[in-house]
Amino acid sequence: MPDDFFADISDGKTPPTYRFFNGKEWVVSTSGKITAVHSPIDASIVGHLQVVTTAEIDAVMETAKAAQPAWEAIPLNQRVKIMHLAADWTAHFADYLIALLMREIGKTTDEAKGEIMRTVDLTDYFADEAQSLRGETLDSDNFPGFEKGRIALVERVAYGVVVAISPFNYPVNLSASKIVPALLMGNSVVFKPPTQGAISGLHLTKIFQKAGVPAGVLSCVTGGGGEIGDYLVSHPKADLITFTGSSDTGRAIAVAGGMKPLVFECGGNNPAVVFPDADMSLTVREIIKGGFSYAGQRCTAIKYVLGTSGVLESLLQEVLLQMKTLVHMGDPRSPETKLVGPVISEQAALHIEEVIQEAVGDGATIATGGKRTASYIEPTILTNVKPTMKIVGTEVFGPVISFMSVNSMDEAATIINGSHFGLQASVFTKDEGTGIVFARQLNVGTVQINGSPQRGPDHFPFLGVKRSGLGVQGVRYSLEAMSRLKPIVLNKPA
Ligand code: NAP
Ligand code: G3H
Repeated sequence: MPDDFFADISDGKTPPTYRFFNGKEWVVSTSGKITAVHSPIDASIVGHLQVVTTAEIDAVMETAKAAQPAWEAIPLNQRVKIMHLAADWTAHFADYLIALLMREIGKTTDEAKGEIMRTVDLTDYFADEAQSLRGETLDSDNFPGFEKGRIALVERVAYGVVVAISPFNYPVNLSASKIVPALLMGNSVVFKPPTQGAISGLHLTKIFQKAGVPAGVLSCVTGGGGEIGDYLVSHPKADLITFTGSSDTGRAIAVAGGMKPLVFECGGNNPAVVFPDADMSLTVREIIKGGFSYAGQRCTAIKYVLGTSGVLESLLQEVLLQMKTLVHMGDPRSPETKLVGPVISEQAALHIEEVIQEAVGDGATIATGGKRTASYIEPTILTNVKPTMKIVGTEVFGPVISFMSVNSMDEAATIINGSHFGLQASVFTKDEGTGIVFARQLNVGTVQINGSPQRGPDHFPFLGVKRSGLGVQGVRYSLEAMSRLKPIVLNKPA
């Protein structure tokens, strides 16, 4: 039963006050401070979190450091078994976790189910893939001037203590995507979940504990990023930081973290470029799904659409028409709601409303939407948007798509390459050759031809350039990122 399984993570009251996991036990912070998590659906309190102290962070880091060598030393096949068991427990509690995610972060049933089942598959896939990661041996005679016989044994070793920081929009999946590869490669992990999403993160931590991750190897500390973040990432016992979140927070972590290795998935501001020969019905469906799913709160959401004026006008009419059946804003628990539930908080909604109004002040026109009620923002299409407007340079984490007319596809490429962001771009054309040639001009992590931007399938490489990220994620790439090469060179006796 979930209540027994998760019993020690909270006081069991309504609403519960959650404990944090110091690597060994579920405990109340000595700070005496708690923070409330409100549901974006109706502002009700989902639970309270501990705000940990710096002394507690010191203790957790110490514990993680001490536990890591033994964890790295156990056979890989045992770590693999524990991860498969964690996947099984996640599947076992799927319904419970889906309901929690819906309440804590406002996902629809389909979106929450997608996140949990994807986490099960991802965890299993990581565990299988870890079995096939190998080192290599290199001989010296390939390089000019060297004889055969100087041998490098290139092994993969853990970094040590990994600090894993995840965002609110995938608090289970984007936490597991950090914790699982780090643990498989023999690191210990200090996990800091997002405040909004921490309750889901604490449940995930409990699943790893029950699956058999030994004491000290994984901990979960709660508290606002603004309060404990700097201390955590600049901690001398932290050996690597893996982070997903906004570009501004990423920059702050890079400064505070100093010379520590960093793996970052940051913000996106993803364009869709529509060629005149595009399949219009596919393009319209993909733009609507890409722009509005989870109320536009995906780093991979489509944020602006570029096309020549004739193409853009007919596309706009079709998008507005199809939105009537494909999009319905409402309570994410209602089966009538399609794609657009609330954004994460009323404060976030107020900010998005301001950005829309500012764009209108700058000359943009609201073709549909634009209004806010509490934490709900109507699905919004802005037209007459110009590349110089502030909205184009900003990641609007909400259901807002800007339509921008260009004179040529070269101009579209110039606008995309001029952005501070560089996560993904979509290109819609029936001629895949044209799509590939255009894709090659774009300085972004990934280009999708005839599809909306997306992270999955999760074994594909996933990366952002410029302010959108550092390093590469995706199953094999994440395992590689969570380990380093260590050559041991056998020198030929003279
Ligand atoms: P965020 O505000 O940057 O927060 C992300 C995480 O960082 C949270 O756990 C947050 O904790 C923590 N944090 C905040 N300040 C910190 C600091 N100074 N030091 C250390 N940690 C700190 O992002 P978000 O609003 O949760 O997520 C939305 C953003 O994430 C968007 O920009 C989106 O594009 C990006 N994202 C990117 C990807 C990708 O793969 N590229 C994927 C998902 C999301 P608190 O919650 O306690 O403040
Ligand atoms: O929010 C950023 C996520 O990495 C997006 O993942 O494309 O699967 O929704 P997704």
